Amino acid sequence: MFPASDWYHENFRENITSNILLDLTIFHLTSILYKPKWLSCKRLINLKESRVKQIATTLSNPNIALIKYWGNRDERLRIPSNGSISINLAGLETRTSVCFDPTLQQDTLTLNGASAGKTARERVSAFLNQVRIMSEVRSFAAVVSENNFPTGAGIASSASAFAALALAAAHAAGLQLSEQELSRLARRGSGSACRSIPGGFVEWFAGDNDETSFAESFAPAGHWALGDCIAIISHAHKSTGSTEGHATASTSLLQDTRIATTPTRLETCRRAILNRDFNSLAEVAELDSNLMHAVMITSQPPLLYWQPATLGIMQAVQKWRSGGLPCFYTIDAGPNVHVICLEDEIEQVTARLQRLPGVLQVRTATVGGPARLIM
Ligand code: DP6
Repeated sequence: MFPASDWYHENFRENITSNILLDLTIFHLTSILYKPKWLSCKRLINLKESRVKQIATTLSNPNIALIKYWGNRDERLRIPSNGSISINLAGLETRTSVCFDPTLQQDTLTLNGASAGKTARERVSAFLNQVRIMSEVRSFAAVVSENNFPTGAGIASSASAFAALALAAAHAAGLQLSEQELSRLARRGSGSACRSIPGGFVEWFAGDNDETSFAESFAPAGHWALGDCIAIISHAHKSTGSTEGHATASTSLLQDTRIATTPTRLETCRRAILNRDFNSLAEVAELDSNLMHAVMITSQPPLLYWQPATLGIMQAVQKWRSGGLPCFYTIDAGPNVHVICLEDEIEQVTARLQRLPGVLQVRTATVGGPARLIM
């Protein structure tokens, strides 16, 4: 459940600084509390009309990469050094509302009920500049966004954040973009966000410029009922974020080898998914995750995200697989471990993970659909 109504009542009401923020918050909350078809509510119609469609609310899921993106050939445009493959995670959601408003003096960002810090605001503002360049909108925007999962600890919150923002901002700015164009736009905010625009099983073609670097679905969410049991061993915000990590990837002696061999793993992964071949997928995904962490650990300065509990889970998962339970691990830029299994085994995998030392909580997800417009 989104904490939205709680934070609105307890905190936010007192801190309203402008009418537009109040209007947008009401609009955002309405998207949670009511179905869009009940939008006959007079206040909302007035609000939408008065904003001349420059307002939108969207939902998107984070994704987990099975073949990882690590390192950019163009940092500014986020053109990655290698292609990647991921699955969208249904059940974990970012909900974002955007309203461009001529009365605003600057872009504002409300994140999980609180006014966001300078770094997050500037990143969102830089992204909105891109949307302003592409459209006729020149005004600043109010952005209200919230996640129903912990941010910054190995669940790719920037992926769903920028996918939801790209769709909402494009819609609010009146842009008519294809899925490919939206994926390219989301990529400018966060690389992995381009993979949260299409649904299901997704491949990001690295490309070599802005036009050729985008993600596409190669199998719909219903193609294979997989589950992701995310063992959370720390809620702390990671000390080195992905953006800084990408910038140091090339300092590892292993990065060139990892990049040169990625096409083979992409092919194996794609084929394993299309054939629903769990064992091949398990082997290639664990190998690819280990290769990325080998690069991280051997970069300058070294990035070691694993904690003792991380390693304990990795070993347990490999043992469970040898014992006949189809499951494998994959780890992003954080200590938490994603354990992928068949959807039918989610309960069993969760129960086993909960018994391991250091596991604070297990969040589960199934394969999710594309980013979508709610209102
Ligand atoms: C380890 O997409 O978070 O999760 O483009 O700087 O926002 P930025 O990086 P980001 O990097 C994701 C890295 C990863 C692997 C992956 O998701 O492919």
